[in-house]
Amino acid sequence: MTAFIELDHVTMSYGDAGSAVPAVADATLTIGRGEFVALVGPSGCGKSSLLKIVSGLARANSGVARIDGRAIAGSQASVGMAFQNATLLPWRTTLENVLLPLEVSRDHRASFRRKKAEHVAAARQLLQVVGLEGYENHAPYELSGGMQQRASLCRALIHGPELLLLDEPFAALDAFTREELWEVLQQLWLQQKFTVILVTHDLREAVYLADRVYVMSKRPGRIVYERPVALARPRTLESTFDEDFVALVHALRDHIGEVRAA
Ligand SMILES: Nc1ncnc2c1ncn2[C@@H]1O[C@H](COP(=O)(O)OP(=O)(O)O)[C@@H](O)[C@H]1O
Ligand SMILES: [Mg+2]
Repeated sequence: MTAFIELDHVTMSYGDAGSAVPAVADATLTIGRGEFVALVGPSGCGKSSLLKIVSGLARANSGVARIDGRAIAGSQASVGMAFQNATLLPWRTTLENVLLPLEVSRDHRASFRRKKAEHVAAARQLLQVVGLEGYENHAPYELSGGMQQRASLCRALIHGPELLLLDEPFAALDAFTREELWEVLQQLWLQQKFTVILVTHDLREAVYLADRVYVMSKRPGRIVYERPVALARPRTLESTFDEDFVALVHALRDHIGEVRAA
């Protein structure tokens, strides 16, 4: 496995020296190119902060964070992000929302103007993969929460990023919709093989989607446990009832229990 993301003893705090809130403590991990990693841990332990460091939105106080061998400094062109709220712009259609990153980013807007038809075709293709064919011209308010989150995934992937950062993207959805979105995300990843860091509270979601699960301690978050998930792909909802799937979820639940009690 070639290392793509490396965190080497990364520590990060908010605020000034006097009133600093430590959020990430001595986090060390390596993620291979094309790997799907899930990050779980108690609320407020520093998961979003760790994603901010990887995206370049926040800086480590000590230690080094690298993407592809280079220290991360400032925002990264080849990163896509999605969050719990889909945050689609209400005055744009679904298609226009998906195209937004190409229009606004310095790296893409020239190409977007030159090859607009190509980019529009790519956006339509993505919308089709996630099951939103026919909704291209609908406004966000006409879409359900799950459909908005599908569009948000397309928007995160429209520029073909090497790295996708997902911060509890399905947490606000009902259980059935959430499981449908697992399938959608797995399919996108199997097709495009970008690297993923998924932050989630849902251990079944972590085991369904990830090649490896990292467990973080209470704040300030350290990486305390790492569990490979060697289940066959593509994973199915049916397979979540298999013995080895259930055993993995239980093992993770035990670790989270220990971390919370510590
Ligand atoms: N912008 C900020 N300023 C100050 N403290 C923050 C900020 N963002 C997060 N924190 C604090 O840092 C800790 C870790 O936060 P976060 O990374 O959001 O945790 P998680 O995503 O695991 O719930 C929390 O105690 C939180 O209150
Ligand atoms: Mg968070």
